[in-house]
Amino acid sequence: MKKVLSILLAGCCVCSLISCGQSAQKDTTKAGTEEAVQSVQVENSVVETIMTRRSIRQYKPQAVEREKMQTIVECGINAPNAMNRQAWEVRVVDNADYINGVTELYKKANPKVAEDPTFKNMFRNAPTVVFIARDTQSESSPFDCGLLAENMMISAWSMGIGSCCLGTPARFMRSPEAAEYLQKLGFSEGYELLYCIGFGYPDETPAAKPRDAAKVKFVE
Ligand SMILES: Cc1cc2nc3c(=O)[nH]c(=O)nc-3n(C[C@H](O)[C@H](O)[C@H](O)COP(=O)(O)O)c2cc1C
Repeated sequence: MKKVLSILLAGCCVCSLISCGQSAQKDTTKAGTEEAVQSVQVENSVVETIMTRRSIRQYKPQAVEREKMQTIVECGINAPNAMNRQAWEVRVVDNADYINGVTELYKKANPKVAEDPTFKNMFRNAPTVVFIARDTQSESSPFDCGLLAENMMISAWSMGIGSCCLGTPARFMRSPEAAEYLQKLGFSEGYELLYCIGFGYPDETPAAKPRDAAKVKFVE
């Protein structure tokens, strides 16, 4: 735990402070609170990591070191989850033959994707892919898996590792064409692949996509 926290904090410290709005808001009035939702002055490293994370779709070629992936998955499985049932299973793949092999099948089924000159593989070009399966008997497993994923993506970002949550490739992995590759992941009976997350060292710095702060309201 101590090790995980120190890695998190060390990673966060190298990032510069950011302001996601025009100015700091110390106003405690309702208007001030609403303004503050839109304009977050970052004051701690966890907030900074959350606010600077972006989905990454272009990566340096090297896979993420397994030791770092181990830390990332440990952060994942320490996420809150219903009754601590841990209704998930996680597989980490950094085998280029696996990634390229299933990508060939994906290209056969979706020939247009390969027309994109930046296309390297079906996992938005990530050299390391984490597959997350949910226990189909557990109603809360999609929430559990979502929290697990966010812990992984945020801890990764704090270490300079980019990620992208991926629904479309998971759909293909569940299709008959990819059955052999899904089987290789060896999920237990009763578990189904929910989504994947690509990880790697970023080779792009995408801008933040706008969020609709009006969806958040404080109720008096
Ligand atoms: C459940 C889920 C599925 C997603 N599936 C894909 C996907 O298949 N391909 C992709 O490029 N991005 C995918 N994304 C990433 C979103 O497009 C991205 O998070 C969103 O546009 C916000 O951008 P940001 O993550 O940079 O803030 C997915 C995200 C989530 C949470």
